[in-house]
Amino acid sequence: MQKLIIDGGLPLNGETEIQTAKNAALPIIAACILTDEPVTIENCPHLNDIDAMLNIMRHLGCTAEFFGDNLTVCCRDVALNVINSDLTGKLRSSIFILGSILSRCRRAYISHPGGCEIGLRPIDLHISGLKGLSVKIVDDCGVICCDGTDMKSGVINLDFASVGATENLMMAGALLDGETVIVNAAREPEIVDLAEFINAMGGDVRGAGGSVISIRGVKKLHGCAYTPMPDRICAGTVLAAVNATGGSVTVKNVVPDHIFGITERLKKAGARLSVRGNAVRITADARPRPIHKLETNVYPAFPTDMQPQFCAMLARASGSSVIVENLFENRFGYTSELVKMGASITVKDRIAVVNGVSSLHGATLKACDLRGGAALVIAALAAEGRSVVYGVEHIDRGYECIERTFAELGGAIHRAEV
Ligand code: EPZ
Repeated sequence: MQKLIIDGGLPLNGETEIQTAKNAALPIIAACILTDEPVTIENCPHLNDIDAMLNIMRHLGCTAEFFGDNLTVCCRDVALNVINSDLTGKLRSSIFILGSILSRCRRAYISHPGGCEIGLRPIDLHISGLKGLSVKIVDDCGVICCDGTDMKSGVINLDFASVGATENLMMAGALLDGETVIVNAAREPEIVDLAEFINAMGGDVRGAGGSVISIRGVKKLHGCAYTPMPDRICAGTVLAAVNATGGSVTVKNVVPDHIFGITERLKKAGARLSVRGNAVRITADARPRPIHKLETNVYPAFPTDMQPQFCAMLARASGSSVIVENLFENRFGYTSELVKMGASITVKDRIAVVNGVSSLHGATLKACDLRGGAALVIAALAAEGRSVVYGVEHIDRGYECIERTFAELGGAIHRAEV
């Protein structure tokens, strides 16, 4: 077990390079099942969530090995082992692997991933979408048994623009005769990245990034080397931290369009930002301005995965902000930890009212989920005095060595054994 020790109150200055996107790499790794040839995923981040996905791939008979930052995955043969709850429990979003296994093997068995700290995480859209492709699905004591021997292409209309369900259906259609069309598809950049990866393997996916995606099945897909997109949430996390502590930082390896919904809100919170190529420079005063109303929603709106980090930043704003969480029903759990630091936050259902205070003080804190943990780090960097953050394993699911990122920018933060 490890903890982070943070002595807050210092501005962040300098430059940092953003890691490759976890939420792009995960479905891309799953999509390696679509070919029996080796695939190299370049600059793949070293994260707990990636490790969890690789364990699932190895459980299915694939080989997966890092050579430095490059990950080589080969699914020459795929064993139809049940992906049990030990595996799905560590990675709720692993449900999207169903599509690639069905595409390749026409059968798949996976334990229900269940809920997590931020919500129930239902999979009804995944199941109804695959049934729309004539996959027969039964839930046998918590194991989802899929029979795709008669599966065929079709038009699937998603009731909600689910990221994972869109990814599942893209992979399900990749090797299916005919054209599969997803209507009301998710438009996140990670969807575009997955489409580009499938096409790099010889697939035919069109319209990704829009609400209607067409997948024309091909007979075979070949191996390739691919570099997934930069992590827009990691970029947003660093930018929110600078606006929380004050300072001047250049964030490199970003796609400015991907973080437009984030940078526009940072400007409302007082940050000054400039874009040069694939770098964003932020300059911030010591205290943020409030944001009257901040609502999360599907891309290109403000992303739910940035909600906790903005709340931590706004805890010291020069006024009150209202945050509305429209995606997940339980994503304010971290606010009780911020209140320990002197924050004034009231939560009711999906709304948090943040009355900015002039200063936060250090405290002993417990991270309970990935982005909530990042929020605690931001608050501790901006607080006066020492904080200790436990539950670092949650943060390590999505951030490669978060303490190194902020220490390199002048933050007094280090990791220690509990
Ligand atoms: C992806 O999760 C991301 N994870 C999440 O990031 C992100 O918060 C989420 O998309 C929304 O952007 C990965 O990409 C690995 P959804 P996913 O299906 O696919 C409901 C992080 O911090 N829903 O778009 O699970 C669901 O309950 C993680 O990196 C159904 O009702 O998200 C939620 O309210 C957290 N039925 C909403 O849709 C379904 O069948 C969004 O879910 C599926 C989803």
